[in-house]
Amino acid sequence: MAESEVDLESEKYEKHREAGEILSQVRTETAERVEVGASHLEVAEYAEDRIRELGGKPAFPVNISIDEEAAHATPSIDDEETFGEEMINLDIGVHVDGWLADTAITVDLSGNPELAEASEQALEAAIDIIEPGVDTGDIGAEIEDVITGYGYNPVVNLTGHGLGHWEQHTSPNIPNRAVSQGTTLEVGDVVAIEPFATDGGGKVTEGASEEIFSLEREGSVRNRQARDALEQITEEFRTLPFATRWLETDRAEMALRRLKRNNIVHGYPVLKEDDGFLVSQKEHTIIITEDGCEVTTA
Ligand code: CO
Repeated sequence: MAESEVDLESEKYEKHREAGEILSQVRTETAERVEVGASHLEVAEYAEDRIRELGGKPAFPVNISIDEEAAHATPSIDDEETFGEEMINLDIGVHVDGWLADTAITVDLSGNPELAEASEQALEAAIDIIEPGVDTGDIGAEIEDVITGYGYNPVVNLTGHGLGHWEQHTSPNIPNRAVSQGTTLEVGDVVAIEPFATDGGGKVTEGASEEIFSLEREGSVRNRQARDALEQITEEFRTLPFATRWLETDRAEMALRRLKRNNIVHGYPVLKEDDGFLVSQKEHTIIITEDGCEVTTA
C-alpha cells in the first residue's frame, strides 16, 4: 500500500464534517445564551434541541461546568440552577450516524478573562504544530508552555482523545503537558484536543454527583422502567454517554439506579479542582490531513 491510502472525501469524513458544522453553529448560539440568571437546564436543552433541528444528534449531554468543575456536570431532570458571576465551560458533542464532533468553550462571567484566554491560546498553539508525524507529547508540551506562560497550570489528568464510531473517547490520548512517550498522529486520524487551564493545582478529582451515564455491558432486568430505559439506551445511545433527563420512561432515576446496581450502566462523577479555584477549557475536533489539519468545529 502507498504511504497514505486514506480517502478524506469518504462518507466517514463527510459525516465528521457535517457533525462539526452543526456543532460550531450550536456552540456559538448556546454561548450567547449564557448570562447571569439564565437557567442551566434551559441552556442545555436549547443546545440539544438545536442539534436535532440542524440534523445531528447530541453525542453526549451538554456539559455545563461551573468554576472549580472541569467536566461531566450536566443538569438533572428538574434542575433549577441559574448562572451567576462564574466561570462556565460548555462542552458539547454532535454525531451524524455515530461519527462525532466534540467542542468546548469557556464563557467567563467571573472577571478572569486571562484564564479563559490561556486555554484558548494553548489550543491555537497546539493546532499550529499539528501535521502528520507529530508526536502527541509535543502537542502536550505546547499546551503546557502556553498555559504556564500565563501563570496558570494545565489540568494534567484530563486529556484530549481520539473519536471513534459511536465512541466518544478512543486512543490516542492527547496530553495537556509534555510527556516522553507520546503517539504519532497520521493522516486521517480524527482527534479532539482540549486544553484545560486552572489557577489551582492542575489535578481534578471525582466529586459526589453523577448525572451522565453510559452502557457498560449487555444485560437484562425485570423491572419494567429499568427494562424500558435499557431498551432506549441500547437503541438510541448505544455506547455514547446520556443523561437521566433523556430517558423517556417514568421513574427514570429509579430505573437508572437499578441498571447501575446491576453493573449494566456506569456513571461519570463530576470532575473538579479544589473549591475556590477556577477551570477554563477550550476544545476543537480536527482531522489530520496531508499538510496539517482541518478543524471541523471551527
Ligand atoms: Co472531548
